[in-house]
Amino acid sequence: MKYGHFDDAAREYVVTRPDTPLPWINYLGCEAYFGLISNTAGGYSFYKDARLRRLTRYRYNNAPYDIGGRYIYLRDNADGKFWSPSWMPVRSALDEYTCRHGMGYTIIRSVSHQIEAETRYFVPMGENLEIWELTLTNLREKTADISVFSAVEFCLWDALDDSTNIQRNFSTGQMEFVEEVIYHKTEYRERRDHFAYFACSEKLAGFDTQREAFLGAYRGWDSPAVVEAGESTDSIAHGWQPIGSHHVKVHLKAGESIKVIFILGYQENLKDAKFDPPDSQTINKKTVKPIIAKYLQPKNVEAAFSALRDYWDELLGKLQVNTPDEHTNRMVNVWNAYQCMITFNMSRSASYFESGIGRGMGYRDSNQDLLGFVHMIPERARERILDLAATQLKNGGAYHQFQPLTKRGNNDVGSGFNDDPAWLVLAVAAYLKETGDWTILDAPVQYENEAGSETPLYEHLQRSLQYTIDRLGPNDLPLIGRADWNDCLNLNCFSDTPGQSFQTTTNKDGKVAESVFIAGLYVLVTKEMAEIARHCQDGRETAKMLRAAEQMEETIWKSGWDGEWFRRAYDDFGHVLGSKENKEGQIFIEPQGICIWAGLGVEDGRAQKALDSVALYLATPHGIVLQQPAFSQYYLHLGEISSYPPGYKENAGIFCHTNPWIMIAETKIGRGDRAFDYYMRINPSKREDISELHKCEPYVYPQMIAGKDAPTHGEAKNSWLSGTAAMNFVAITQSILGIQPQFDGLEIKPVIPSSWKGFEAVRLFRGVRYEISVSRKGVGNNVSLVVEGKSVQGTIIPLPARNVKTLKVSAFIGL
Ligand code: BGC
Ligand code: NOJ
Repeated sequence: MKYGHFDDAAREYVVTRPDTPLPWINYLGCEAYFGLISNTAGGYSFYKDARLRRLTRYRYNNAPYDIGGRYIYLRDNADGKFWSPSWMPVRSALDEYTCRHGMGYTIIRSVSHQIEAETRYFVPMGENLEIWELTLTNLREKTADISVFSAVEFCLWDALDDSTNIQRNFSTGQMEFVEEVIYHKTEYRERRDHFAYFACSEKLAGFDTQREAFLGAYRGWDSPAVVEAGESTDSIAHGWQPIGSHHVKVHLKAGESIKVIFILGYQENLKDAKFDPPDSQTINKKTVKPIIAKYLQPKNVEAAFSALRDYWDELLGKLQVNTPDEHTNRMVNVWNAYQCMITFNMSRSASYFESGIGRGMGYRDSNQDLLGFVHMIPERARERILDLAATQLKNGGAYHQFQPLTKRGNNDVGSGFNDDPAWLVLAVAAYLKETGDWTILDAPVQYENEAGSETPLYEHLQRSLQYTIDRLGPNDLPLIGRADWNDCLNLNCFSDTPGQSFQTTTNKDGKVAESVFIAGLYVLVTKEMAEIARHCQDGRETAKMLRAAEQMEETIWKSGWDGEWFRRAYDDFGHVLGSKENKEGQIFIEPQGICIWAGLGVEDGRAQKALDSVALYLATPHGIVLQQPAFSQYYLHLGEISSYPPGYKENAGIFCHTNPWIMIAETKIGRGDRAFDYYMRINPSKREDISELHKCEPYVYPQMIAGKDAPTHGEAKNSWLSGTAAMNFVAITQSILGIQPQFDGLEIKPVIPSSWKGFEAVRLFRGVRYEISVSRKGVGNNVSLVVEGKSVQGTIIPLPARNVKTLKVSAFIGL
């Protein structure tokens, strides 16, 4: 069953009924000011940091599920009936309803009581504010007197403190109402230099800033007393719960329309210019007034909206494909790329499953996310790489997280995840392949953000790899530390205390438990490093890296191969995991993906054997599960992985991030049909038809789909913020469609389904527009390239002369 449809031409998903199985959200903002918005106008906003600069409140895990947002109430003043044009929070029936989630904007339109209301929500580029542009149209044959009420609830900035430090917070809230604008200035009197404002384009009939005055005691957002009465109270909040609500009375003739613009924004003042007059406690509004005035003008709103569209057109224009499959097209051309940008902006901080207060930016996550957005925003990718590398420890290790506001590393969710360092190498390799900007390797970068500790980035990469080699275990495999990619495989944790964090507890010295996954990852990135060193004409390093990769491969074959698949790990007792010898957890997906991606067993049939085992034991119609058999009980020596009920999350859930590794691996052995089949199983658009089961948004990947051991097999959770976005983008565009940046140029090496006759693509790469047409002339994946009419050896298109801006490329595949 569907709850809407894709509008591919407009790059929108159109939700056509408000009662989706879960709130289906979108993101506003792409620079510093951000918002989450659901299909019923739920959500919240923040400036840069979802925890420390939260503008508006949102209560997670509430009932009803999605309450609190950017609300508008309409009231017919003739009969006193009121409703929410976004359905929530009043939830009275609407005659028509659509929510269009687009690239950085959301438009909710409805008709009720013969009043059409359409609200366009977005954040103008370069501004720290959001616009709600409401267009009201009277569809009646007679005039209508309508009251419009806006409503937001302010968060007292630090979202964690806001929801816990009640004894203080009930007394700190402060507001101003000046020249028709509502200002939220809690703590501005002391150390904050920022405030929020909420403005409206129309003359106000009233306003409210105190929640209880607006709602009335013992009432909720579904029936505010003020809306019911049709009369604001002009309340000024002192402590308690500051809100912002405007009241506008509109008189509409039959068929008449009016635009009402609301602006919710964030503003900082210089420390010594906070107050006006200076010796007062009144906000100095000199800097903010012109901004407000600008965006209360419809023509400026329109211009800002079209600039936003241009911004996304340009980003998405970097790669556009036209394949025989519509789900592939819309994910690659629009939604998957968009999701990659959202992971760039949010990391894992704020979604409807991530509260914005729990996690900073993951080191591993950020490096992987980069693979999905580097082609769209290479300059910002460069900056991100340098920021990440500057948090690196001198021994090559990594803080597990860093804070975007301070750009400092922290160990809040533990440290010593021994896979972390290696991901930096993969990110840098991706950046170099995309841009050819080798100067990044010479950039002086600090360690642990310490002045004076700088070395060239190149050395950071070397130290990252050395970190693994300095930590080998009894089988010469890399020690796992707290965990590897699988945060929940905690082999040194041994926690028997309820509630203790698996991510920070360690009861073992960490000298025994080893990870085959890190070994595979090491081979993958060491080969990349060898190539990087070759380009830098560092022959010694190249040879060293190739030898190191070879040695690690040997170790994997010796201790990491189980006969029919790659093993997963060795535990603290030196016992194998991910082997036929195990009762539960016999086979895991991660080492199959990463080892084959690194090239192991591709030539000698062992990769095929491993992938056949994946198909046999792990694949389900809803995707490939993480391991089998699921852990049926808690195992002290395995940690969090066995804490989840079978079929969920890391305990045999379909952890979508890992599926593309298998797709990539399948293409390594030339099985395009299999790779594409796996791609389709988790492709959100393809799953749109089963939305009632899948539950999450059909336009973005979730982190997890419940596995076959779960009673809810096929149900998705944790949409939006997941490495799944970047990895699927890489798998489909670079491995299956085979358009892959390499150090020396763009490679075209598709491994597509046998039934496809071909496809077309446009790829902007290092300033050149590649117009690519792929046609199948026979079976198999053999590629012959013709560039501008001339046939070219191999699969990599040589970089053209500087003045060339467009290249026509024909790739013929099969024999
Ligand atoms: C989750 C993981 C996550 C980890 C760290 C675990 O509970 O299952 O997916 O990476 O916490 O936050
Ligand atoms: C989510 C984390 O963000 C990611 O880094 C990790 O690899 C997966 N969970 C698997 O545990």
